Amino acid sequence: MINRRPRRLRTTPAMRELTAEFRLDPADFILPAFVADGLDQPREISSMPGVYQHTMDSLKAHVHDALVAGVRSIDLFGVPQDEDKDPTGSQSWAEEGILNRGLAALREEFGDDVVIIADTCLDEFTDHGHCGVLGTDHRGNPVVDNDATLPLYQKMAVAQAAAGAHVVSPSGMMDGQVAEIREALDEAGYQDVSIMAYSAKYASAFFGPFREAVGSSLQGDRRTYQQDPANFRESLLETQLDIEEGADFVMVKPALPYLDVLSAVAEMSPVPVAAYQVSGEYAMIQAAGRNGWVDAHAVMMESLTSIKRAGANQILTYYAIEAARALRG
Ligand code: PBG
Repeated sequence: MINRRPRRLRTTPAMRELTAEFRLDPADFILPAFVADGLDQPREISSMPGVYQHTMDSLKAHVHDALVAGVRSIDLFGVPQDEDKDPTGSQSWAEEGILNRGLAALREEFGDDVVIIADTCLDEFTDHGHCGVLGTDHRGNPVVDNDATLPLYQKMAVAQAAAGAHVVSPSGMMDGQVAEIREALDEAGYQDVSIMAYSAKYASAFFGPFREAVGSSLQGDRRTYQQDPANFRESLLETQLDIEEGADFVMVKPALPYLDVLSAVAEMSPVPVAAYQVSGEYAMIQAAGRNGWVDAHAVMMESLTSIKRAGANQILTYYAIEAARALRG
């Protein structure tokens, strides 16, 4: 005789809803968005169908759509024109730099109705495409110079706070970046601006389409500063250090290929844990869906549910609006 029948709780849609252990909520979603300089109309990113480089006007309309769908957080990336890039990424802290203008426009339009998160990294703004400035090690070999980069992150974070960001989010994986940014924000009077730290960020091929999205100038890779996909324990150290340095949120990125890492970080973190479903994750679902190989909508919802189940409190996803609309029926 079978006396335990787990199928009883799966018999009807209402019963399944009642017994669901995890639920997606539009309030947890963060919409990543791109604002580009020199565009007169939005430009679709070919490797991310449905995602656009925005003009200032289309960006505002996009964030408005998000709000209506119940998504109240946006993570903004800037795409400068090539001639504005230089070795130090100086447009990243210039008041008239594209990202700072975008942040200011959003803050003016939406005030505190939306949580405005700024990507705090030099890679979009440097002519070599690295997340930090270039230097040489003690033997004269070229490196991305950790300590020379930190003051630039400080300037960038302060400029973003001045422009109106509620949150700055250092994504460059320089050691000590959270502490240095915290100190600079506090000194400038921005005690209330929080830090979402990209804590466990891997040197991932899943970032491929993002390079197109931001018109990246990168040659080579980021393996000397982003984590090796072969490592797990290291993520716990990275997270712990960021928390000690003052991170208000920590993040794991990418999401789906790193759910084991996400789960472990969620277990140990006393601060909210975000996960970033990155460009390549989005592109793969879109591509397979367009080929009729998978049901893209269903895969989107299932993958977002997996990220939540693994322990994410916030989910950065290019699907934020679409998924929120589906959840709201
Ligand atoms: C770096 C940054 C990257 C992404 C977010 N911030 C690219 C990288 O580290 O190479 C990737 C996001 C995505 O792939 O969706 N500023």
